[in-house]
Amino acid sequence: MFMRNSLICLSLLFVPVLHAEEKTPLLGKPVSKALVEKWNGDIFPDGEGLPAGKGTATYGKKVYQQYCLSCHGVDGTGDSADELAGAKHGLTDNPPDKTIGTYWPYATTIFDFTRRAMPLNNPDVLSNNQLYAVTAYLLYLNGIIGENDIMNAQTLPKVKMPNRDGFVNQYQ
Ligand code: HEC
Repeated sequence: MFMRNSLICLSLLFVPVLHAEEKTPLLGKPVSKALVEKWNGDIFPDGEGLPAGKGTATYGKKVYQQYCLSCHGVDGTGDSADELAGAKHGLTDNPPDKTIGTYWPYATTIFDFTRRAMPLNNPDVLSNNQLYAVTAYLLYLNGIIGENDIMNAQTLPKVKMPNRDGFVNQYQ
């Protein structure tokens, strides 16, 4: 009897008083379809999602100097933020030297990550051409492509990163 009464009491306690939407603090505004699409702009290793545009390391060096150098240092060797190039030893050393060149399996991730998050103090400022160019520069600094190799939606996914086979894909 006692148990039954307590159960009834408990269920009364949990009857919702307000609908969920009435409980919001009424801050913010609805997100536009265009913004959702932009935030959803993933780029995949096979190049799916890459936009039109192109760039080389030669132009990318200028982009880097203007937007990245202050944190990532001369030639991507690191400063207040991570080193992006110039690994002095490999991944199997202790500690491992993880740069884009030694660690990242796909070149397309450089474009995706930079577009989404960099420069840290002002993301979203670079055009697609600037993004292709600075990606090319980082690949060039890591000795993976030549200074004048053009990076675009077709060529970037074809770049074979040194650590391409260093990860195990659990979903295959
Ligand atoms: C205001 C400082 C700042 C600027 C400017 C900046 N970054 Fe960064 N960057 C960072 C920090 C801090 C991290 C580490 C963030 C983290 O681990 O989440 C980072 C991480 C990165 C990484 C990932 C490194 C790794 O090994 O995980 C890449 C790639 C990168 N930045 C590229 C760029 C590029 C390209 C530019 C210029 C377009 C740029 N960053 C400008 C601060 C900066």
